[in-house]
Amino acid sequence: MSSFPVTRLRRLRGSGALRDLIRETTLSLDHLVMPLFVAPEALPNERLPALARRTVDGTVAECEELVRLGVRAVILFGIPEDKDDEGSGAWIDDGIVQQALRALRPRFPELLLFTDVCLCEYTSHGHCGVVDGDGHVDNDASVELIARTAVSHVEAGADAVCPSDMMDGRVAAIRERLPHTPIVAYAAKYASAFYGPFRDAAGSAPSFGDRCGYQMDPGNVREALRELELDAAEGADVLMVKPALPYLDVLRAARERFELPLAAYNVSGEYAMLKAAAAAGDLDERAAVLETLTAIRRAGADLVFTYWTRDYAGWL
Ligand code: PBG
Repeated sequence: MSSFPVTRLRRLRGSGALRDLIRETTLSLDHLVMPLFVAPEALPNERLPALARRTVDGTVAECEELVRLGVRAVILFGIPEDKDDEGSGAWIDDGIVQQALRALRPRFPELLLFTDVCLCEYTSHGHCGVVDGDGHVDNDASVELIARTAVSHVEAGADAVCPSDMMDGRVAAIRERLPHTPIVAYAAKYASAFYGPFRDAAGSAPSFGDRCGYQMDPGNVREALRELELDAAEGADVLMVKPALPYLDVLRAARERFELPLAAYNVSGEYAMLKAAAAAGDLDERAAVLETLTAIRRAGADLVFTYWTRDYAGWL
């Protein structure tokens, strides 16, 4: 390669059109998934609007707007009327997510309806699985209920299921029951402080202990690759790394190793950080969001679950 003065990299930075022409990583609504929270009662969130709870009717109205703006995919989270030890609200036929799916499916045939498959919003103790007599989350008993939840979502109209519980073997259990449904596995999901705003919105913080016994330790990347490997082997179609920004190196390592599509979840704490900085006048919100989403895609994500999806669509 020649060097200066023959080579001048600024030549291709001279105009917007030139920069657009050679950009390596681009953003498009095609790759973004908007999270939505469905609950028996609405609960607006002024500071973090994308974390608002909506009723089934409110969710239908929101999807109308999202579709109008060009959004292609949503992921539904449910906040049930009642919680119990087993999280039965997750899989019952008239559960809140099942109700939302039945309302949305016929109205929005083109909108991709993903569902988060987990028990934490539905259990009285707030853990992602069932708890045994010693206070441990019982892996194999939980897997059974997780798989049952996934099946009930698909029966109600879900296009794809996204298990986020981090139990061992749950992808295989879902795959056995749902041979044709895409599974987006939250494969490398870390025990992260950045889920705080989500847990407030979803009412899913554990009432005792923490999630370190099933979610991953933030120090580990080789272990993340093992998680991804196992979920791929069990039949996952898309592998997710979560959170996104503090784990871009994990995403990059995953990109180099796997041919499967990769997802990243730009989580609630990442959303809250930018919102707070923008509200304080320290950051230009739109520019910071576009840079953030570009960084996540550049690191290797094909699709991005992000609370900015609606705003991004509005900016186009
Ligand atoms: C459910 C689930 C969580 C998130 C997605 N699915 C919370 C958790 O694991 O505690 C977090 C998403 C976010 O913070 O935006 N298990």
